[in-house]
Amino acid sequence: MRVIYPGSFDPITYGHLDIITRCSEKFDEVIIAVLNNNKKNNLFSVEERIELLEKATKHLPNVETDSFSGLLIDYASEKGCSTIVRGLRVVSDLEYEMQMALVNKKLYPDLETLFLVSSSEFSFLSSSLVREVAAFKGDVGCFVPKDVEIALNEKFKGGSK
Ligand code: COA
Repeated sequence: MRVIYPGSFDPITYGHLDIITRCSEKFDEVIIAVLNNNKKNNLFSVEERIELLEKATKHLPNVETDSFSGLLIDYASEKGCSTIVRGLRVVSDLEYEMQMALVNKKLYPDLETLFLVSSSEFSFLSSSLVREVAAFKGDVGCFVPKDVEIALNEKFKGGSK
């Protein structure tokens, strides 16, 4: 079974890696799909985000990283994949996630969204918090893989953006 794990990944954190690792153990193939038409003001370009994801997942042979623009359902049908995985960190994630899952299902009835509950040690994490800590020269080593920490320090070496 092939699944898509979509998101912004700006940048990947240990919270995302937790979900990706567990997916790679449960499913035959995992496609990490990086959103390319994000309304968010991204720190990392899509190419940089893909490179960091690839480095962080190189030990997982059934995981590949790709990017998409436009609707997720169009990307999923292009890939011949009808299963999306999303992580749930806290109860408040559920409302937005259910909305997305239901809209996607309405538009693409074969599509299923599976939710994995984040491991408790990562349920407080988000990419924007990590970016904020890094911007003020805080230590992000316990939140992100080494390559991401280096990339964040590089982005903020002249001061916060
Ligand atoms: N661990 C740590 N952080 C996590 C996490 C986890 N397991 N799961 C989510 N997050 C964080 C992310 O870091 C991100 O943090 P930030 O906002 O502080 O940067 C936040 O949760 C949400 O990010 P993400 O999972 O990337 O979701 P998103 O809302 O940015 O994007 C898409 C979700 C890509 C699936 C959705 O926007 C999409 O499909 N877009 C395409 C257009 C489309 O089809 N729209 C119709 C949808 S109904």
